[in-house]
Amino acid sequence: MTEIPANESTLHESYPLGGLHLRNRTALAPMTRISAHDDGRASARMRDYYRSFAEGGFGLIVTEGIYPDTAHSQGYLGQPGLATEEHVAAWRSITDAVHEHGTAIIAQLMHAGPQSQGNAYTSELRSASAVRAQGEQAGMYGGSGPYAVPEALDAEGIGQVISGFVAAALRAREAGFDGVEIHGANGYLVDAFLTDYLNVRTDGYGGSALNRARLAREIAQAVRAAVGKDFVVGIRISQGKVSDATHQWAGGVADAEAIFGSLAEAGVDYLHTTEWKANAPAFPGRDERTLAQLARAFAPGVTVIANGHLDTGADAARALENGADLVAIGKAALAQHDWPARVQRGRELLDPLAPSVFGELATVQDWETLPAEHAVLTQ
Ligand SMILES: Cc1cc2nc3c(=O)[nH]c(=O)nc-3n(C[C@H](O)[C@H](O)[C@H](O)COP(=O)(O)O)c2cc1C
Repeated sequence: MTEIPANESTLHESYPLGGLHLRNRTALAPMTRISAHDDGRASARMRDYYRSFAEGGFGLIVTEGIYPDTAHSQGYLGQPGLATEEHVAAWRSITDAVHEHGTAIIAQLMHAGPQSQGNAYTSELRSASAVRAQGEQAGMYGGSGPYAVPEALDAEGIGQVISGFVAAALRAREAGFDGVEIHGANGYLVDAFLTDYLNVRTDGYGGSALNRARLAREIAQAVRAAVGKDFVVGIRISQGKVSDATHQWAGGVADAEAIFGSLAEAGVDYLHTTEWKANAPAFPGRDERTLAQLARAFAPGVTVIANGHLDTGADAARALENGADLVAIGKAALAQHDWPARVQRGRELLDPLAPSVFGELATVQDWETLPAEHAVLTQ
């Protein structure tokens, strides 16, 4: 067995997250793969998929984005839900299979907002404002052409969205999950509220970064109040979006302070920052810190997960040195479901962008048509 480089050994150390004892600091990043049943029940194929990462040594699995309600939250046909009791029962076999291998599993709750491109319950979209998301729908998930123009949520609609997250978090607990992650990243509903050009509201949810973060905060607070202290509640935050990969917060570090600081006050256990490259500065030329370092600075005492091209043990170790507590691995984990075990043994790693990696993503077979740089997949 090859000796692990000293600076990488931290990766394989256990970590306390909320009331959980993670066996190491590696997490599987959330990745949509549209392999649920048409009615949103998780499938046996999904059970085998998630179990393989637990067998491969991950300390934590964050699931693909799961829709929380039967209204406007579903983003993709074939996406799993946590919106009904049938969904709860289906997830149970997956949480059991993962726990058998000593891995914790957190449900990512995702309201697709203006980037919804397939919803079995409605064809209408909801967002912060009636502003169309940029770019085109993802072909690999069965979409084509521009996104539809969403309708702006009114106060009642916002209340229903929050209740939807709360109810789904309670169902997640019933299904045996160890916690929930609110998807506040990548241009979906919560991030649409955070984003200046998608949110042109003039009420208390629009304007300043603090106001634009209000929906994220209110969901986090409401979920925390409902599930109590013993269930992990995290939130994922990014600058880039599925529909706009290079977006940066106009207010730079001040926006980071408003967003991360207020989410910490809302009582989240962790902040999951995701960037194209987690070890690169979040605001190049303006500040040298990474997004994870800014989360660390403005949310003291809150666990920070870093994600984005932490493809090797050395990249991941560097993110930990930069102040993250955990690392989330996406495409490199698809290339080898036993990424943690391989890194620990010093074994060779496969190319995360190999076509065979994308072949297993989804039931749709059109992954060959992806843009060369796989831009759509980075979110
Ligand atoms: C196929 C695929 C599906 C994804 N689906 C989600 C998702 O459901 N929720 C989410 O927050 N991020 C999603 N992402 C983004 C990943 O979690 C991750 O942020 C991104 O791949 C960058 O990390 P990496 O460089 O380690 O791959 C997805 C990425 C890929 C490749």
